[in-house]
Amino acid sequence: MYTFNDRNDESLTLRPEGTAGCVRAGEEHGLFFNQQQRLWYMGPMFRYERPQKGRYRQFHQIGVEAFGMQGPDIDAELILMTARLWKQLGLDDNVKLQLNSLGSASARSNYKSALVVYLRSVEQGLDDDSRRRLNSNPLRILDSKNPDTQKLLDGAPVFADFIDLESQEHFEKLQSILRGAGVEYQLNPRLVRGLDYYGKTVFEWVTSDLGAQGTVCAGGRYDGLVEQLGGKATPAVGFAMGVERLILMLKTLGLEPQELKKVADIYIVAAGDGTDKIALFIAENLRNELPRQRIQVNCGNGSFKSQLKRADKSGAKYAIIIGESEIQSHSVMLKSLRDNGEQQLISQNILSEYLQDLMQP
Ligand code: HAM
Repeated sequence: MYTFNDRNDESLTLRPEGTAGCVRAGEEHGLFFNQQQRLWYMGPMFRYERPQKGRYRQFHQIGVEAFGMQGPDIDAELILMTARLWKQLGLDDNVKLQLNSLGSASARSNYKSALVVYLRSVEQGLDDDSRRRLNSNPLRILDSKNPDTQKLLDGAPVFADFIDLESQEHFEKLQSILRGAGVEYQLNPRLVRGLDYYGKTVFEWVTSDLGAQGTVCAGGRYDGLVEQLGGKATPAVGFAMGVERLILMLKTLGLEPQELKKVADIYIVAAGDGTDKIALFIAENLRNELPRQRIQVNCGNGSFKSQLKRADKSGAKYAIIIGESEIQSHSVMLKSLRDNGEQQLISQNILSEYLQDLMQP
């Protein structure tokens, strides 16, 4: 937790994630009463972790939470939605889906007891972190990255022997939907997730392109949380993706969408005495008339050539060029920055109308 004392010596904790807040907001506004909800959020989250590549103390999540649906169909829908997003971003070959079921609370508790008995018998061989978790959160030891601990875990009891029938059926149905939809997955019995509200389905989308911080999106079912936070029992499932990790991945793979690099649709070049003022007036007029187009005016002078270079770099489709002779003739030179670089003298009176036709998708 990112916790600190403020000037009044009050202890503040910055939100580490969005799920619990989403549940509280839903409760406060009566969103769960007799209705289903599919909600989403995006925003900064804070965790006091040791920073490294892909792991920050302030990062951003896009999260989705679905309430009031208990079947595996909604688990599948969320997974299919993320699979669709990877495809759209061109990342589908680079992320792999890992799946597990944590079963019901009582199955988990029986398993936890058996696991603790086993781990106590090999406690000498555990690393410090795992020894500490033996008392606080023994299931987390299952996803220890320490190779010696992992070796010891090979002899540990397996959850498949403890899972309850209902969770087992839920999990099998989910897998059958995913197989039917052509979504590949790997069963990972050691996937337990760091947050303790999960039960039944848990999943992670993992990549090998980011080094140690390979999880780009993760989530699962948390049917007990609404009740635990004071509401009526409400089934729920969701996930969150780490925006920085996604961007890092797109950059590593050279897949940043070109569209994002584009900052303008029309760039106004002004070269010569008094042209900067006219450029700003024309820009304001175009912003009124063509509100969907992004208009950028060259500010800070520069030679004609360097302004055109900036115009090109902005990603704009057209440059509007205003020189002294254009001011004289109340016109502008409209230059295509893509295609063939054609240019044309257009009267200022009809400029917005002319551009409107040109810029139609
Ligand atoms: P989480 O696994 O803690 O789950 O975080 C989700 C994602 O946020 C991670 O997979 C990762 O991409 C990103 N992330 C987490 N910590 C950091 C960090 N320090 N720096 C950069 N990125 C990070 C949750 O937060 C759950 N609330 C997800 C969920 C929603 N489960 C059900 N509904």
